[in-house]
Amino acid sequence: MKIAGIDYGDQPVMLAPMEDVTDRSFRLICKELGADATYSEFVSADALIRNIAATTRKLAIDPAERPTAIQIYGREVEPMVEAARMVEEAGPDILDINFGCPVKKVAGKGAGAGMLRDIPKMLEITRAVVDAVKIPVTVKTRLGWDHNNKVIVELAEQLQDCGIAAITVHGRTRSQMYTGEADWEMIARVKENPRLTIPVIGNGDIDSPERLRDAFSRYGVDGVMVGRAAIGNPWIFNELKHGLYPDDNRYTPLSLEQKFAIVRRQIQESIGRIDEYRGILHIRRHLAVCSLFKGIPNFRQTRIAMLRASTFAELAAVLDSVEAKLRSGEPFE
Ligand SMILES: Cc1cc2nc3c(=O)[nH]c(=O)nc-3n(C[C@H](O)[C@H](O)[C@H](O)COP(=O)(O)O)c2cc1C
Repeated sequence: MKIAGIDYGDQPVMLAPMEDVTDRSFRLICKELGADATYSEFVSADALIRNIAATTRKLAIDPAERPTAIQIYGREVEPMVEAARMVEEAGPDILDINFGCPVKKVAGKGAGAGMLRDIPKMLEITRAVVDAVKIPVTVKTRLGWDHNNKVIVELAEQLQDCGIAAITVHGRTRSQMYTGEADWEMIARVKENPRLTIPVIGNGDIDSPERLRDAFSRYGVDGVMVGRAAIGNPWIFNELKHGLYPDDNRYTPLSLEQKFAIVRRQIQESIGRIDEYRGILHIRRHLAVCSLFKGIPNFRQTRIAMLRASTFAELAAVLDSVEAKLRSGEPFE
């Protein structure tokens, strides 16, 4: 897949943008483990142009994560244009616009997926942003506002006419939030439209090599984006690729030891980026769903200790003992 001349390789699997999850450290880890491209957390255009420090920090990218996109959201043309110029200065390969976020504080104010209720405004913003920057602009959105308004096939064409270089479609409506299953038939219809020539990236519920294979071979998308399945599980990219290309030794499955080393690195980098206490709070979301700790008999007390630890020393001690027990086969109690 190529977006405006940028080569993403064959059948790319990208890390989806996720607020409070896809910080630079996590993105880099996913990239090292096989993700073909990364996206920043969404960045509020309004906060960016007011130079809010916590927001401008989100523009930092690492050369090793390229090709990478910075994503912005907002509901008015002028702030979006101004923010787009600031993002361009930060040097990402792609500027992505979020027209898909369903949460009330965003969509309720007309930004993110809220824009699916005002398509003329969405198109106006897209045109203005495309005109304001030299880097390629892409859009990530949903099927439509609700079940009765699945506008995506026509909308993708309208956005293409505004000059975007690719579109990512999450196969749910705003009303669905994250419930039900992503509708990949509908994503396929976007791709099948003969008038649509830009790449289509499919998104929603990809968590196994089987689903990934279907996305490409059955639904025909050009690229795939993986979100929730990567939280606490950055090696999913390695595992997905190994499933697709079992003979490719770049994707040999990771050992227990390697996975624990990655978890420790995540914790250390999170602490280094924020501070000890908040860094640990930040990483709990990953630990809570980490595949390393799934299905272990009698793990409940250890899980509680792991998720309550508030210093690095405490957390490291829990992890060391879990790893030792898993390796020796000693039971948890
Ligand atoms: C915690 C969380 C934060 C998210 N933040 C963003 C975001 O900032 N921008 C965005 O476009 N989508 C965001 N999403 C949506 C994901 O990018 C993705 O579209 C969605 O989770 C469906 O893909 P999945 O089934 O692979 O998770 C977020 C999702 C989650 C779970």
